Amino acid sequence: MSLLQDIENRLAAALESVVGEKLAAPVVPAADLRFGDYQSNAAMALAKQRKTNPRALAEQIIAAMDMDGIGSAEIAGPGFINFRIDASTFASRAAAQLADERLGVPLAAERKTIVIDFSAPNVAKPMHVGHIRSTILGDSLARIARFLGHHVITDNHIGDWGTQFGMILHGWKTILDEDKLEGDPIPELVRVYREINAAAKDDPAVMETCKAELVKLQAGDEENLKIWSRCVELSKMGLQKIYDRLDVTFDHWLGESFYNDRLAGLVDEFIEKDLGRISDGAVCVFSGGELPDDKDPFRIHREEGWTDNPAIIRKADGGFLYATTDFATVEYRIDEWKADEIWYVVGAPQQMHFRQIFDASKRWGKDAGFQHIAFGSILGEDRKLMKTRSGDNVQLVDVLDEAVERAAAAIAGKNPDLPADEAKEIAEIVGLGSVKFAELSQNRMTDYVFSWDRMLALQGDTAPYLQYSHVRIRSIFRKLDEPFDSAGVELTLDSEAEVHLARLLIRYAETVPAILDEHRPNLLANYLLELARAFHSFFEACPVLKSDGPLRSSRLALCELTSKVLAHGLGLLGIRCPERM
Ligand code: ARG
Repeated sequence: MSLLQDIENRLAAALESVVGEKLAAPVVPAADLRFGDYQSNAAMALAKQRKTNPRALAEQIIAAMDMDGIGSAEIAGPGFINFRIDASTFASRAAAQLADERLGVPLAAERKTIVIDFSAPNVAKPMHVGHIRSTILGDSLARIARFLGHHVITDNHIGDWGTQFGMILHGWKTILDEDKLEGDPIPELVRVYREINAAAKDDPAVMETCKAELVKLQAGDEENLKIWSRCVELSKMGLQKIYDRLDVTFDHWLGESFYNDRLAGLVDEFIEKDLGRISDGAVCVFSGGELPDDKDPFRIHREEGWTDNPAIIRKADGGFLYATTDFATVEYRIDEWKADEIWYVVGAPQQMHFRQIFDASKRWGKDAGFQHIAFGSILGEDRKLMKTRSGDNVQLVDVLDEAVERAAAAIAGKNPDLPADEAKEIAEIVGLGSVKFAELSQNRMTDYVFSWDRMLALQGDTAPYLQYSHVRIRSIFRKLDEPFDSAGVELTLDSEAEVHLARLLIRYAETVPAILDEHRPNLLANYLLELARAFHSFFEACPVLKSDGPLRSSRLALCELTSKVLAHGLGLLGIRCPERM
């Protein structure tokens, strides 16, 4: 159990003994260490409710609270309870953490089956930096949820049945370069898509041909289906290369096309259950009428006032839509995979879509703890949406290549004697780590500015800073005459720098579970930065190799634990640590 959880339990017990009722007693790390390590406003909240004096209530609670073996509690301001933790508590907890494979992080009390829908690029369209956010965030959340003991199913719901296939089919038959396709399929498919798309914009006849190709595909035309399936296979191979490089894995790739033969029945069922209604020849889902207009995703405010904002699930021409597929996907995930929760890691512009899917699915009787884990945009250094110089969307592969190139240059400058193979490997780890960390250290809802210099800086809030901290710690151990064995080592925390390092180390157990409260890996990223800073202060203030006896072992143990937490935490973000750099 984490220290925070322990304090919460004891506080709840004290509350219960004072007011005779089981109540939640939330505790948070104190914002300012001068006042203590943890803080609770439980007494204030309760006093307000019961109209009693908060300080008097806090006093009663403290008197009833068991603080044995933890530290002390005191009242501050209008009735905050501040907890000050004894250094010996940090020491014994840190020692136990070092001996624990899970580094003190408890498994979730309730283990759930969680389907995570992320990445999901569209076939034959370029996978751009917007997809990178989904891929990196989703992968990290999957790693964290798994580590906490949940049964995680990752599913790459690729867009493999969209209208883009009209263009692709026409292009495939007219302008495809087979050799290029064999060599590197994605750029060739993207080129074909782009050229035909541009031609179709200029020439209505081309547009008509594309539409006709799409209709033939949807009607099951053999030739078009063959081209389509080859195109999807090639795209998947190309994507797989990127995922391998990023160390991202999927349990399934059930793209949109997987659900094709379920859509007709689904629409019939919606009509039968009165969830779908025919309107102007199309089948639409309307409001369930239970929510106020401003909370109802099927209502929208326009000039004339509140009006319907239906989701179309079958067009008048019989075609199905993105929403139709998403309803089928919900059903499949609940029925086949027994999903307790479904998380969609998709950009903020699709918020309305997901609110509609979640609301109507619940009315349909299919509820699975839906979460739209949204995120903002990536901006260029000019603070506009990131584009290449020619105005195209920046492609993910190019971003990764450039990150690795820049990392290679930095490493060559710093450590020119590394063997070429190793330098290359390190550049890959550092370059990809930088891109991932730049993403994961942001509040996901904010638009962030993509800055090469900032994300690769060795002294900054970056992956290289953390990776380098880890390297430095490992190099301490390489200097030892005998390997260090931490078994049974007791920690003595003499100086404030040591106390602070231990205080942060044991918070790993609180930080990791808290990430899933709001699906924010940036909590972990920021924790790791704070930990690394505390380590450097400790390392400056406290000689390790030059100290002796139990103090030396204690400090080595702190080093060891720090390196373990750094490497493990980075691992949960999908970032590796090189041995040297
Ligand atoms: N392919 C979609 C896009 O690129 C994202 C799909 C997200 N998942 C879903 N179940 N709708 O916008």
